Amino acid sequence: MQFFHPSFHERFRFTDWSQIEAKLAELGLSLPRSPDLSVLTRPVELAGRTVPNALLIHPMEGCDSDELGRPGELTLRRYRRFAAGGAGVIWAEAIAVLPEGRGNPHQLCLLSETRDSFARMVEEAHAAAREALGEAHRPLLIAQLKHAGRYSRPESAPAPIIARHCPPLDKARGIPSDYPVISDAELAALPERFAAAARLAAEAGFDAVDVKACHGYLLHELLGAYTREGPYGGEFENRVRLLLDTVAAVRAEVPGLPVGTRLNVYDALPHPWGFGMAADGSLRPDLKEPLRLMRRLVKAGVSFFNLAYGNPYYNPHVERPYDTPAGAGYVPQEHPLAGVALMCELHRQVHEALPEAVLIATGLSWLRQFFPCVAAAMVGAGEARLAGVGRMALAYPDFARDLLERGELAPEKVCITCSGCSQLMRGGGPVGCVVRDREVYRPLFLAQKRNEGQS
Ligand SMILES: Cc1cc2nc3c(=O)[nH]c(=O)nc-3n(C[C@H](O)[C@H](O)[C@H](O)COP(=O)(O)O)c2cc1C
Ligand code: SF4
Repeated sequence: MQFFHPSFHERFRFTDWSQIEAKLAELGLSLPRSPDLSVLTRPVELAGRTVPNALLIHPMEGCDSDELGRPGELTLRRYRRFAAGGAGVIWAEAIAVLPEGRGNPHQLCLLSETRDSFARMVEEAHAAAREALGEAHRPLLIAQLKHAGRYSRPESAPAPIIARHCPPLDKARGIPSDYPVISDAELAALPERFAAAARLAAEAGFDAVDVKACHGYLLHELLGAYTREGPYGGEFENRVRLLLDTVAAVRAEVPGLPVGTRLNVYDALPHPWGFGMAADGSLRPDLKEPLRLMRRLVKAGVSFFNLAYGNPYYNPHVERPYDTPAGAGYVPQEHPLAGVALMCELHRQVHEALPEAVLIATGLSWLRQFFPCVAAAMVGAGEARLAGVGRMALAYPDFARDLLERGELAPEKVCITCSGCSQLMRGGGPVGCVVRDREVYRPLFLAQKRNEGQS
């Protein structure tokens, strides 16, 4: 594997920002920082609503639905904890729009027969938020609509639905070169499935939807389908067709419902296999196409973007810099700070080129208790409307409350980027924090290890 910033991997061992500053200088990198965190605690506008603060919880799959895709007890618990934790926006995890597009047999799935269970999840989240923070506190809830594409696994065995062949990803997944590619007709039928799911999400009480186009899943895979023939591959206009058609279908089906997208702007997979990549086959980013797409999406009515990077199945260090890899995963030849700095820099460049786009920042959990000062700099400068965290929220669901009430995070509660949750996800779930929520998830983690040992 190539790395963007060849350097030595190190675990986090900073107790003071000045030590991070010194390491950044040694690596020739920089990060924005603001000691004034108040900007994160003030209400902001998103999707036509005023949300209580500029802190967001990123989508984090729990793999804990029942066989129909209805939220299970652990799902409900997760969203109650997130809501009581005070973040202004909760971007709910990936929800399949059709059964064959589920990424695992316990992925949430939004169909007419499961809608009411999502309504319960939304109601319970709002009730938990009110109970913890008062009647006036109402987080914005976003439903992430997804087709898992090459990572589809609706039952126990993988059942990939691929948009094109991609040798590095095919090899990693054991997909043979003669494996069939999804047809144009099947792709053309998908926007209406997303639209139907968006209607159900609105009926269930979600405030907005995300047409998910990141992390190697179907709508994202098409963006880099340079080698596919026909109306969904090759030229830029063809590769972005399905995403734009899907956004249009969702907007037509539920006109008042705000639409956002979690969008990969840098795949870290050399051209012609990745989107947002330099044409020379290196790992250098080239934002020309992502920006061109974002302009089109803004025109199409997409009102906010959650920027994403890399592919968690292939190069997980790109978006989730970690201290320890999941299971038999790799230790990157790259300092985790390089990953964080690259995401912040790409985010800044997107904002500079497209100041009208509302952006949400990603990839900050590795910074532990120091993430708020980087987030505050990004929000304060107007680069990001909100700053999001994923793993941090699993470990520390009330991080926002601590920030609001105490003005800082407690170092003993932060995520330590050990990848235990990613490992649980690889094993099929349920997913949670094995360190800070150990009573629930440590036994599940150990049971999974025992099962692996026996198989
Ligand atoms: C266990 C796990 C599940 C995830 N599930 C999703 C998901 O459903 N949808 C999504 O867009 N990203 C998902 N992500 C990525 C996170 O939203 C986030 O972008 C990533 O963890 C980096 O942010 P962080 O450094 O704050 O953790 C997941 C990450 C982890 C570790
Ligand atoms: S298991 Fe907990 S501490 Fe480890 S990476 Fe996941 S959220 Fe962070």
